[in-house]
Parts: sequence; structure tokens; C-alpha cells
Amino acid sequence: MNHSANPASLPKCTQPGPHHHDPRIGFFDHHAPRWDHLAVDIPAMHRRLEELCERLTLGPGVRVLELGCGTGLITEWLASVVQPARVVAADFSPAMLEQALAKNINAEFRLLDICRDATEPEAYDVVFCFQCFPHFRDQAAALRSIAHALKPGGQLQVVHLVGSRQINHFHRNVGGAVEDDLLPGANQWPRLLESAGLRFQNLEDREDLFLLQAVKTS
Ligand SMILES: C[S@@+](CC[C@H](N)C(=O)[O-])C[C@H]1O[C@@H](n2cnc3c(N)ncnc32)[C@H](O)[C@@H]1O
Repeated sequence: MNHSANPASLPKCTQPGPHHHDPRIGFFDHHAPRWDHLAVDIPAMHRRLEELCERLTLGPGVRVLELGCGTGLITEWLASVVQPARVVAADFSPAMLEQALAKNINAEFRLLDICRDATEPEAYDVVFCFQCFPHFRDQAAALRSIAHALKPGGQLQVVHLVGSRQINHFHRNVGGAVEDDLLPGANQWPRLLESAGLRFQNLEDREDLFLLQAVKTS
């Protein structure tokens, strides 16, 4: 699909209406034009991901749904790793997606609220959440949608390049719409995942990495 950089041309899996107001949409829309300048060191970020690649079970042909793709900071990297498969990259902030579309990345971008909208069932080998999971306002609902999107045996990956203590502290400091956007605690993950139809596999939470992996059971 060839979308121009006009968000009106995006497939609208969601259109936030009067019954739905997540203040984070406005927050991320506001920051979108400067998002890539706020990012630390983008090549270093790609190098870190490259090092993790094998553990992330990514490779040629893997069908990936990248959630909270934002401006596509890592979408091009993901696209290069999984080609000839085509990444589907989704976000609920039209302005973030507008930035991503302007980069002409070979991926399919979608406007989608993972806490509310259904994706196609059992379509993905990997659902990749890079630096976005804490922002899902209803994490249980997001996990149910993720389970729905994964093929049986498919994997959820929640990745941050810093630990949860730093992430939670950062969001508290930023305040506003993201003040309470926290990662679940280590002891909360297994139950949260299980009630969504996912099985906890692995959690690594250290100063320079947060990596949660879970598998769709049936
Ligand atoms: C901190 S940004 C990270 C963006 C990108 N992954 C990056 O690393 O630059 C979090 C992203 O998650 C998106 N997001 C938050 N809640 C969402 C939801 N319910 N559905 C889809 N996207 C969501 C935001 O719009 C935002 O672009």
C-alpha cells in the first residue's frame, strides 16, 4: 500500500470519537514533530537492537506487528531484518504516524488503538512493543488484542533499552498525560499475561535493558 504523508490516507482502524478520549493521543501528537530530535542516539539504538536480534527471534520472513511505532524510529531497522516479510507498524497518534509516513519506509502503517481495536486474528509471529507498553492505558485489554493478533506459538516482545526503574521514574518526571504510565512489576506479569492467553517466558530487567517475552499458548 502506498500511503502519502497525509494521515487522512491512513487505513483507519480507529478514529478516536467523543466516546473515547485518551489524553496521550494529544500528548504524542504534540511531541511528534520534534520526536526524532528528542531521541538519544538513533544509530546506537539500532546497534543495541542488532545485538539483541537473535534473542528477539527476528529474522527474514518473520511476520511482525510493531505496536506504538511512533515516528518509525526503529521501523526501518525492523523492516530490514524481516524482509521479505513486510512489517505492519501501528500507532494511535495521527501526528506520529505522519512523521513515520514521511520517511517512506517499506512497511505498512496503520492508525490503531491497541486497547480498543481488533487486529486480524493469528496473523503475526511477533508482536513487538518498543518503548510503548507503559503508555497503553488498559494493559489487560492491550494484551488481549496482542494475543488475538499472534499466531499460536507466536511471541510478544516488550523491549526498552533501559530498566523499568528508570522508565517509571522518567514518566513520573515528565508528568502530565504520561505521569502514571508504568511497567507492571515483575510479579504482576505472569497473571496479566495468563488472563490474556499468553504464557510468561522470560523477563530481564537491568539498568540497560528491559526485555519481556511471552508466548501465545493456543
Ligand atoms: C514513547 S512513544 C515510543 C514510540 C516509538 N516506539 C519510539 O521508540 O520512538 C509511545 C508510542 O505509543 C503510542 N501509543 C500509546 N498508547 C497507544 C495505544 N493504545 N494504541 C496504539 N499506540 C499507542 C503513542 O502514540 C506513541 O507513539
